[in-house]
Amino acid sequence: MSKTEIILIGAGGHAKSCIDVIEQQDKFKIAGLIGKKEELGRKVCGYSIFGIDNDLPELFKKYTNAHISIGQIDTGKRNNIYNQILNLGFSLPTIISPNAYVSDHADIGNGNIVMHGVIINAGVKIGNNCIINTKALIEHDVQIDDGCHISTNTILNGNVKIGTGTFIGSSACIKNNISIGKNCIIGMGLSVRRDVENNSRFTG
Ligand SMILES: CC(C)(COP(=O)(O)OP(=O)(O)OC[C@H]1O[C@@H](n2cnc3c(N)ncnc32)[C@H](O)[C@@H]1OP(=O)(O)O)[C@@H](O)C(=O)NCCC(=O)NCCS
Repeated sequence: MSKTEIILIGAGGHAKSCIDVIEQQDKFKIAGLIGKKEELGRKVCGYSIFGIDNDLPELFKKYTNAHISIGQIDTGKRNNIYNQILNLGFSLPTIISPNAYVSDHADIGNGNIVMHGVIINAGVKIGNNCIINTKALIEHDVQIDDGCHISTNTILNGNVKIGTGTFIGSSACIKNNISIGKNCIIGMGLSVRRDVENNSRFTG
């Protein structure tokens, strides 16, 4: 059976990690990437950068699946693009590495990527358009709202809540039952033991 084609939006370092997950999952065939004008014609892991943002309406005539492969600390750009491509009509399937463990009792929305080595335990709820990056541990009953980036090797303990658009830095560890607000940045390597208000920049 031929695989469904998908285009990737974003052609930087995070796109390479996304490509690896998509290849291992073996469900979608990568048709090409959307990048910046100056990147046109270059290749990422053997796949061509064949368009820029303005080409998306035309590309939608041929490809209906897309994944946002931009991995930034500022989640705003990802979230704007997510809304734009939804409006164009693209489907955004969730990509899950075969090397991740995702409980059957977890509920995961659309347009997410769950990367290699992630563990998502029972009762977890994840919205749309999130990156659950390599080796993150998402414990029971955690809730992650739309548009979050949960970086590499983070630990979100039981019942933690993460608001829309929040970035959790690499190796941060969040105590059980803690709520982190919307649009926060939690620095890498930090332990969070108290609730964090919306729009906070937490550096310890
Ligand atoms: C939080 C973060 C975004 C701040 O970056 P920044 O705005 O450039 O801030 P700076 O590096 O100028 O640091 C500002 C201050 O906060 C401190 N600080 C920044 N990040 C910190 C961290 N993670 N832990 C402890 N202190 C930190 C700095 O030491 C500095 O203190 P000073 O003013 O006393 O010297 C950045 O440090 C960080 O943690 N990025 C996440 C990287 C990551 O996880 N990437 C993974 C992608 S998968």
